[in-house]
Amino acid sequence: MVDLKSAQPRLSIIGDVAVDLVLGPVDGWPAIGTETIMQRSELRAGGSGGNTALAMRHLGVPCRLFSQVGDDTFGGWLAGEFKGVNAHLGVARAATTVSTGVIHTCGERTFFTTRGHLEEQSWAQIRPLIDQNPSPGSIALLTGAFLLPRMRAEYGAIVEELSGLGYQIAIDTGWPPEGWSFATRASALGWLSRCDHILLNEIEITGLAETNDLNTAFRRLTPLLRPEAVLVAKTGAKGAAAYYGGSRFTAAAPKAEVFDTIGAGDSFNAGYLAARLSGEGVQNALAAGCRAASAIIGRFPRQAIAPGQLSDLVTPAHAS
Ligand SMILES: Nc1ncnc2c1ncn2[C@@H]1O[C@H](COP(=O)(O)OP(=O)(O)OP(=O)(O)O)[C@@H](O)[C@H]1O
Ligand SMILES: [Mg+2]
Repeated sequence: MVDLKSAQPRLSIIGDVAVDLVLGPVDGWPAIGTETIMQRSELRAGGSGGNTALAMRHLGVPCRLFSQVGDDTFGGWLAGEFKGVNAHLGVARAATTVSTGVIHTCGERTFFTTRGHLEEQSWAQIRPLIDQNPSPGSIALLTGAFLLPRMRAEYGAIVEELSGLGYQIAIDTGWPPEGWSFATRASALGWLSRCDHILLNEIEITGLAETNDLNTAFRRLTPLLRPEAVLVAKTGAKGAAAYYGGSRFTAAAPKAEVFDTIGAGDSFNAGYLAARLSGEGVQNALAAGCRAASAIIGRFPRQAIAPGQLSDLVTPAHAS
């Protein structure tokens, strides 16, 4: 078993960070021109890459984060939220992307997101900062492809370059805003075919495979992937499933009292990858992902989670 806490960071997260303002709950939808008083709110660092980096901090596992913030007050605030994370955050010439997440009483949520700095983030600014000699077993996690148009245009080359340097590639694309059009599916399948850990949610995977059935999606997609790739489907409150080496794995999500599930998938990614880095196989890593996600989304405000407070969740021996 690898001691993750004393080791050099072997996870490099390359992706999106943004500001999230989460508030609610709202019953129904207000009429235009009215004011609604909310019970709760939290201004927090977010973005898929940001959420995963913070989840790694909660788990007490070092990582590196490569991303950008905007050149405004929010950008300065956002960069300051990654204390204790080995963060390399350039400044883009744009306002910081802000996402307002309105939580509905039914548990659904509505986002209002500005384009902001994510549209400016480029591989050219991140590339020189990446470790060219990763230690064996290092993983590069790519997040937010569809929110980063300039990086998206180069994604195939980015995946190729990182895997050429010796990184295992993990990817969480998120949902494509334009839906799974033919062109989007073709380019995403090109990236995924080079990846080692594919961390999508059920709707993303079934949409990509043009089916409503997860098993059919696994069957259709695995022949297009590397034989050693793990295809993970996050299945919300049910937990997660994976397909690897011809076998199917599942893990149940521990029950959690949840105000907002924002960042659930990203927290899962942190638990899964931390477990893989400590030497766990697919089954234990799926369970670690579910434990991390339940524990993190069960907390409000998220900022109240201290660094390392959830370190017991990574390995099965310590899980309660
Ligand atoms: N209501 C819930 N209760 C307990 N665990 C949950 C709940 N919702 C999600 N999870 C956990 O979070 C993980 C990821 O959630 P989900 O499948 O919704 O991913 P996602 O859609 O990618 O999330 P995100 O919206 O953050 O991108 C699940 O695999 C599960 O472990
Ligand atoms: Mg997701």
